[in-house]
Amino acid sequence: TTRHRIALIPGDGIGTEVLPPACAVLDAVGKRHGLAFSYDSFDWSCERYLAEGAMMPTDGLGRIRHHDAVLLGAVGWPGVADHVSLWGLLIPIRRQFRQYVNLRPIKVLEGVPSPVAKAGADVDFVVVRENVEGEYSEIGGRLNRGFPNEMAVQEAVFTRPGVERILDYAFTTAQRREGHLVSATKSNGIVHTMPFWDELVREAGERFPDVEWRQEHIDALVAKIVLDPSRYDVIVGSNLFGDILSDLAAAVAGSIGIAPAANLNPEREYPSMFEPVHGSAPDIAGRGIANPLGAIWCASMMLDHLGHPEAAAEVFDAFASVLATTDARTADLGGTATTKEFTQLVLGAVTDR
Ligand code: NAD
Ligand code: IPM
Ligand code: MN
Repeated sequence: TTRHRIALIPGDGIGTEVLPPACAVLDAVGKRHGLAFSYDSFDWSCERYLAEGAMMPTDGLGRIRHHDAVLLGAVGWPGVADHVSLWGLLIPIRRQFRQYVNLRPIKVLEGVPSPVAKAGADVDFVVVRENVEGEYSEIGGRLNRGFPNEMAVQEAVFTRPGVERILDYAFTTAQRREGHLVSATKSNGIVHTMPFWDELVREAGERFPDVEWRQEHIDALVAKIVLDPSRYDVIVGSNLFGDILSDLAAAVAGSIGIAPAANLNPEREYPSMFEPVHGSAPDIAGRGIANPLGAIWCASMMLDHLGHPEAAAEVFDAFASVLATTDARTADLGGTATTKEFTQLVLGAVTDR
C-alpha cells in the first residue's frame, strides 16, 4: 500500500460541501490501486478569522509543509473583506510554496452542452496561469485615505526567471499535447510589462521549435474563445489574465462548478495545492446543491501529480461516464441532483468497473 498524507482546507461556503465528495472518490479509487489516504483537516476559514482574528495560525504554512498535497475548497465569505481572507490564506500558500503554475484544464464533456460551442465541437484546452507574480505582486498600497487626493497604486512585477519558468512549463505542456500555444498579451495597451512578456515568449518559442505558437490580445482572445473555443490547445497567461480566462473558459465548458485547478510547485520543494476554480458561492451555500465536479476533477489531478495516472484516469472516466449516461445534473447544469446524489453516482462508477 502506498500512503499519502493530504492536508484538507475546506475553507468557506460550498468549499466545505465539495471536499468530502472529492475525498470519498479518492478513497474509492485508492482501494482499487493500493493507495491509502490520510487526511488532516484544518479549519482555516473566515469563521476562524471572526473568532480568532486570523485566517490561519502563524505557523500555519509549517503545519502543511510536509504533506504530500493540499486539497482546498474555497476561501472567502461576506462579512470578511476578500483582501483579508484571501491574502491571509490562499495567496500565501501559493506564494510561499512556490506554486508558480496554475494549471486549469477545460473540456466540453459529453452530456454537458456548452452554451456557446457548436454541438460536437472538440473543446479541450488548458489554461496555464502564472501564479505567484505579475499583477498579483505585493508591491503597492493605498495613499491619502479619506482625502481628495486619495489613490491606490499597484506594481505588476514580471521577472525574467518568473516568466521564463511559466513559459517553459506551458511550451512543454504544448509539446505533450497538440503542439499549439497561444500567449495572452496586451502589449498594444500602455502596459509596460507586456512587451517584455512577448519578448520572452518569442525566446521560449525558439527553445521549443516543435511548438506552433502565436500571441493574441487578451480582449480579442476572450471574444474568440466564446465564438470558437475548439481553436485552442494551450493558453498561457499572466496571473490576472489567467484568472479571468479560466472562469470564462469554465463557463464555456458548461459551468464554473466543473473546472479544476492545480497549483503546482513543479520542483516539488513544497506540496502542490488542488482547488476548484470556483469560489465559496454564498448564494447557494448550505443547501447541499453545489456541483462537486470541480473538486472531484481536482482529486483526479492530484492523483496524477502523486504519480498515479491510471487512478487519475479512472476518476475522470467515472464522472465523464455519469454525465454521458445519466441525466443526473446539479442545479448549475440545469438539473435537480444534490451534491450527495451526484457524488453517489460517481462513486458507483468508480467501484463498478
Ligand atoms: P463563486 O465562484 O463563488 O460564485 C459565482 C457563481 O457561480 C455563483 O452564482 C455560484 O452559485 C456559482 N457556483 C460557483 N461554484 C459552483 C458550484 N460548485 N456549483 C454550483 N454553482 C456554483 O464566485 P464569487 O461569487 O465571485 O466569489 C464568492 C467568494 O469566493 C468570494 O469571497 C471570492 O473571493 C471567493 N473565491 C474564492 C476562490 C478560491 O478560494 N479558490 C475562488 C474564487 C472566488
Ligand atoms: C482563483 C480565485 C483567486 C485568484 C482569488 C479568490 C484570490 O479567483 O483561484 O481563480 O484570483 O486567484
Ligand atoms: Mn478566479
